[in-house]
Amino acid sequence: MANLFLKQAKQYSKTRPGYPQQLFDFIASKTPTHDVVWDVGTGSGQAAVSLASIYKSVIGTDTSNTQLEFAPKLPNIRYECTSATLSMSELEQKIGKGSSIDLVTVAQALHWFDNDTFYNQVKCILKKPNGVIAAWCYTIPEIDDQFDPIFHKFYNESKPYWDSLRGLVDDKYTSIKFPFGPVDGCDHTGPFEFRSTKLMSLDEFFMYIKSWSAYQTAKEKGVELLNENVVNEFTKAWNEDENGQKSVTYPVYLRIGKVGELVN
Ligand SMILES: C[S@@+](CC[C@H](N)C(=O)[O-])C[C@H]1O[C@@H](n2cnc3c(N)ncnc32)[C@H](O)[C@@H]1O
Repeated sequence: MANLFLKQAKQYSKTRPGYPQQLFDFIASKTPTHDVVWDVGTGSGQAAVSLASIYKSVIGTDTSNTQLEFAPKLPNIRYECTSATLSMSELEQKIGKGSSIDLVTVAQALHWFDNDTFYNQVKCILKKPNGVIAAWCYTIPEIDDQFDPIFHKFYNESKPYWDSLRGLVDDKYTSIKFPFGPVDGCDHTGPFEFRSTKLMSLDEFFMYIKSWSAYQTAKEKGVELLNENVVNEFTKAWNEDENGQKSVTYPVYLRIGKVGELVN
């Protein structure tokens, strides 16, 4: 699946939302120390950059070198291209030894992973007992009463071109497997809801759609999702402000848990 993101890495880095500070403050309040984070499926560093202002160092990994090329380079972020399923020796070589990481984050990517293998590695690499895993997704954006119904119809029509794993996102990560205990101060592992808002022009919004894996898949099947009718409908319904932009809000759903003391 990683190939789905190769061809639109540039659109991806320009138009995907960052995440709200409240999300990072909440997550950081659950890790007793703020030394090292592993941001898996980092893409073009959307979460890594914010994490770098809270944690001493961030390791951002992705299977796509093309995505990593667009990620902002900061002195305390190390980007690594990895295999989709890391071997234990690749894990140790590129990420670190067992019980060495405070926090594992996965932003808008957990649904693509081979969960069992990944979770075993997370359990190995997190500090015990307080190491934390935080994984979140965002669903389709909310704009306003005029635009949203048109966009929902378009999204429904795009469904055949999404991988079936996208259903876990539509489900707001309620049904994704997440075998961890609640972090201190919580009685469940989520989803906890946050909101990410971005000002966008209509051209940027079209570029955001072009960054979808489904857009790429449709194109490969000879279908242009942003055909003339759709572009016209969107243009009519897009009442931008005087700066040519609109406020676009993405609901974000966080699952968070801690590894605890491992029994075996
Ligand atoms: C939807 S993007 C999310 C990027 C970024 N984290 C964000 O918040 O926008 C999913 C990313 O996961 C990467 N990816 C997919 N499978 C992966 C795997 N098994 N291991 C690491 N990265 C993977 C893709 O290459 C892609 O960059």
